[in-house]
Amino acid sequence: MTALAGRVALVTGASRGIGAAVADAFGAAGATVIRVARTLEDRSRDGRLDIRADLTDAAQVAGMSERVRAEAGVPDIVVHNAGGFLLKRLADTTPAEFDQQVRINLRAAFLVSRELLPSMAALGGGTYVSVGSVADHVGFPENAAYAAGKYGLRGLHETLVAEYRGSGVQLTLVSPGPTDTGIWDPFDPDHRPGFPARSAMLRPSDVADAILFVATRPPSVQVDWLRLGPI
Ligand SMILES: NC(=O)c1ccc[n+]([C@@H]2O[C@H](COP(=O)([O-])OP(=O)(O)OC[C@H]3O[C@@H](n4cnc5c(N)ncnc54)[C@H](OP(=O)(O)O)[C@@H]3O)[C@@H](O)[C@H]2O)c1
Repeated sequence: MTALAGRVALVTGASRGIGAAVADAFGAAGATVIRVARTLEDRSRDGRLDIRADLTDAAQVAGMSERVRAEAGVPDIVVHNAGGFLLKRLADTTPAEFDQQVRINLRAAFLVSRELLPSMAALGGGTYVSVGSVADHVGFPENAAYAAGKYGLRGLHETLVAEYRGSGVQLTLVSPGPTDTGIWDPFDPDHRPGFPARSAMLRPSDVADAILFVATRPPSVQVDWLRLGPI
C-alpha cells in the first residue's frame, strides 16, 4: 500500500503497544516513520528514524523536535500516542502518582503540540492526531488520575481545533476503549471484576487501522473525534 508514500509521520510512544502498531501500519503504507519513546535507541535505518526522549521533559521535547526538523523536515503527520495508565481509588492515589499521570497524559501532549503544531500550520497542512481514551469523556471508578489527564487532553485538543481552524492542519482526537496491550499487565483484567477479558479487548492493530483512516482523509476533511471500542 502506498497511501502515505512521500509523507513523514512521527509517532510518539511507538516502542510498543498501539504506537508500535501505528508505526508499522504507517510504514507499510509507505510513510517515512519517526518513532519516539524513552526506551528506543537513537538510530536512523531503512527510512526509519528512532529518537529516545522523555516527553514529559520540555528540554527533551525541544531537542527531539529540533532533530526531527533537521533530519526529516517538518512532519506531515504527528500521532501523539505516548501515555500512561493507573487504576486506583481516589483515597489510594498518592499526589506523586497523580502528578505522574497528568505529566504523561497531559503535559507531554501540550509540550509536543507546542513544538510541532505551529511549524505544521506555517506550512499550511498536515494531520495531527492525539490518542485519548474512553476515559477522556466517561468517568469510571479508580480512574481519577488517569481521567484527569485524558479529560485535560480532550480540552487541549478541542482548543487546538478552534485555534488552528483555517490553518490547513487536520486535528483529530482518537478515543479508544480497552485495547490489549502491556498497559494492562499490572492490573490483570481477566481476574478483575467489572473489566473486559483481554481476549474481548480491541487489538492494537484495530486502533492503528482507525488512525490510518484519519491520516488518509483528503485535506478538505476534518475528523474532529473518533471513538472506538470493542462491541
Ligand atoms: N491499552 C488501552 O486499553 C488503551 C485504551 C485507551 C487509550 N489508550 C491510550 O493509548 C496510548 C498507548 O497506550 P498502549 O496501550 O499502547 O500502552 P503501552 O503499551 O504501555 O505503550 C505506551 C507507550 O508510551 C510511551 N511512553 C510512556 N511514557 C513516556 C514518556 N514519558 N516519554 C515518551 N514516551 C513514553 C512508552 O514508551 P517507553 O516506555 O519506551 O517510553 C510506550 O511506547 C496511551 O496514550 C493510552 O492512554 C490505551
